[in-house]
Amino acid sequence: MQFQGLVFGVPKEIMAGERRVAAIPETVKKMVSNGAKVLVERGAGLGSFFSNEEYEDAGATLVDNVEELFAQADVILKVKEPLFNDKVGKHEVDMMHAGQVLVTFLHPAAPANHEMIKNLTAKGVTALTLDGIPRISRAQAMDALTSMSTVAGYKAVIMAADRIPKFVPMIGSAVGMIPPATVTVLGAGVAGLQAIATAKRLGAVVYAADIRPDAAEHAKSLGAKIIETGVPAEIAIGEGGYARSLPQEWVVKEQEALFDTIAKSDIVVATALVPGRMAPILITEEMVKAMKPGSAIVDVSIDQGGNCELTVGGQVVEKYGVSIDGTKNIPGMVPASATTMFAKNMINFINNMIKDGQVIIDMNDEITASTLVCKDGKLVHAGTREAMGLN
Ligand code: NAI
Repeated sequence: MQFQGLVFGVPKEIMAGERRVAAIPETVKKMVSNGAKVLVERGAGLGSFFSNEEYEDAGATLVDNVEELFAQADVILKVKEPLFNDKVGKHEVDMMHAGQVLVTFLHPAAPANHEMIKNLTAKGVTALTLDGIPRISRAQAMDALTSMSTVAGYKAVIMAADRIPKFVPMIGSAVGMIPPATVTVLGAGVAGLQAIATAKRLGAVVYAADIRPDAAEHAKSLGAKIIETGVPAEIAIGEGGYARSLPQEWVVKEQEALFDTIAKSDIVVATALVPGRMAPILITEEMVKAMKPGSAIVDVSIDQGGNCELTVGGQVVEKYGVSIDGTKNIPGMVPASATTMFAKNMINFINNMIKDGQVIIDMNDEITASTLVCKDGKLVHAGTREAMGLN
C-alpha cells in the first residue's frame, strides 16, 4: 500500500486569524485506507467547520499535545510556514526532527522567513514548499497557489459588493429600472478571471484589463469589456509567456488608459502581478480621487505591494470616500472551500512523491525539484539562496 507504515501529522494552524487546515476528513480517509496513520491535533479543523468526530470517523487519531504529534509524525502537513507556538512556548521548527518531511506554504525567499528557513535546514528537516509548484499540466491538481487565487478572486468581489452602497445587478422595480454596478478587474490571471466570473454572475457591468493579449481574450470570453492598455505585446510579455514588469513610461500610459473606466467604477478588483516582482501601480491617488464616494477597491495583489498606491497592507482604509481593502489572507475568509481545495491539492502532491511507504525525493521530477527547500542540512532552493546572497 502506498502509505504503508507512514505517520502523518496535521497540526492546528497557529498564524493569527488562520482558519484553514491541511487535511480534511475525505483526504484523511484516503491516507488511512492506503496504510497511513494520521494524527490530527484536536480542534484543527474547527475553523473550517470540520469537526473532531468527522476526522475520527475518517480514521484519524486525535492528539491533544501538539509536541507529541510533531515528535511522532514522519510527514507534517501544514498550510502556513512554521511559527512560534505561544501556547506551547516553542517554535514549530524546534518541535521537528532530522529526516522529518514538512509540506506547506513556506514562502522561503521572503526575508521575514530567512531565519526560520536556516533553522529548518540546520535541523535536517526535508521541507517542500507548495508555492514552488510549477505551472505545468501534470501539477495542476496540486497547485495550491492557483486554488487560493481562485478563492481570493471570488471573495474579493463579494467583499466589495457588500461594502458599496448600491445594488450590483440591474433591478427592475415599481419605481423604475435601477442600473447595475460597474466592476473593473485589473489583471486577468487566475484571481482576476474568477473575479470577472463572479461579478458577471452578480449581474454587474464588467470591465477588465491585462497587458497579455491571451489573458484579455479569456476575460472577454467570460463577458468582460476589455480596456485597451495600449501596451504592445512585445513589451508586455517576458520569459515563459508571463507578464513583464513594465518600464515606468508604459505604466504611466497604462494608468492613463485606465483612468476613465476606473473613475466610473463602483468596484475595482486589482490582481495584476508580475512573478517575482513588485506588483505594478495601476491606480494612482488621482484616480481614487476621481472615483465616486462609496466605491470600493479590493487590492488582491497586496502581498506583492498592491496595485493601488493608497492601499495599506492588512487594513481597510477610506480615502476620498473610497474604501481600499488590503486584506492579506482573503482565502482564509472562505475557510471551508479554501481548506477543501488546499487539502485536495495536498494529497495530490504527496501522492506524487510517496511510493510503497517511502518518501522519494527525486530531483529529476520537476515538481519535487522546484518545491524542495532543504534536505540533509542543505538549503537547495535556488530563489531562497539568491535572496539570502548565498550563490
Ligand atoms: P497570475 O500571475 O495568474 O495573474 C496576474 C495577471 O496580472 C497576469 O495575467 C498578468 O498578465 C497581469 N498583469 C501583470 N502586469 C500587468 C499590468 N501592468 N497591467 C495589467 N495586467 C497585468 O496571478 P494570480 O494567481 O491571479 O494572483 C494575482 C495576485 O493575487 C497575486 O499578487 C497573488 O499573490 C494575489 N493573491 C492574494 C491573495 C490575498 O489573500 N490577498 C490570495 C491569493 C492570491
